[in-house]
Amino acid sequence: MGERSPLLHEDWHYVEHLDQPDMTVSDWSRLSVQRKIFYPEFQARAVLNLFESGKDEPTFGYQVNHYRHALQVATMMVRDQRSEEDIVVGLLHDIGFHACPERHGAFAAELLGSYVSEANVWMLRHHQVIGETKAADAPDHNEPMDFSRWENHEHFAWTLEFCQRYDERSMDPDFDAKDIDYFVPLIKEVFAYPGTQPDFS
Ligand SMILES: [Fe+2]
Ligand SMILES: [Fe+2]
Repeated sequence: MGERSPLLHEDWHYVEHLDQPDMTVSDWSRLSVQRKIFYPEFQARAVLNLFESGKDEPTFGYQVNHYRHALQVATMMVRDQRSEEDIVVGLLHDIGFHACPERHGAFAAELLGSYVSEANVWMLRHHQVIGETKAADAPDHNEPMDFSRWENHEHFAWTLEFCQRYDERSMDPDFDAKDIDYFVPLIKEVFAYPGTQPDFS
């Protein structure tokens, strides 16, 4: 018999059936009860594991990798006395930077979308393009970005502030950033509540 993966708690039980179509009411109810405990306890750890996987990654030219960049952003936000939610959003804004580079803003927006404000979700999704100071599709990357299509959006100002105040100024190898341990309680707080599901229609 193959080895089972561990349960989060020793006094929990596995469901008896392997295939979902064969599961009984008691199987589903067991999954439901244990799942309600599992995510508030474990989701923050899963997010941290993902974040910490970038700790020793190389860069393609910046002097610090995206893990150190994120710690700098979050530390700057602590010094500015931003809200705990903003700090966690700042810490995780580039969490998909290497796994999903072309859509890393959307990656972070989906990760945090059930737990943070609409302003932060919009900021996460758009920071990767509004953060460009020069138009990436211009010859020689030398034309200023045209922000006119977003300028009247209610969350544009916060997004531009995040980009200009934090995101664009946080690649300094000499910056004295806080350790990840400082941010762990904040991450746990953000993910401690049941998230909302998106509209699948
Ligand atoms: Fe980014
Ligand atoms: Fe960034």
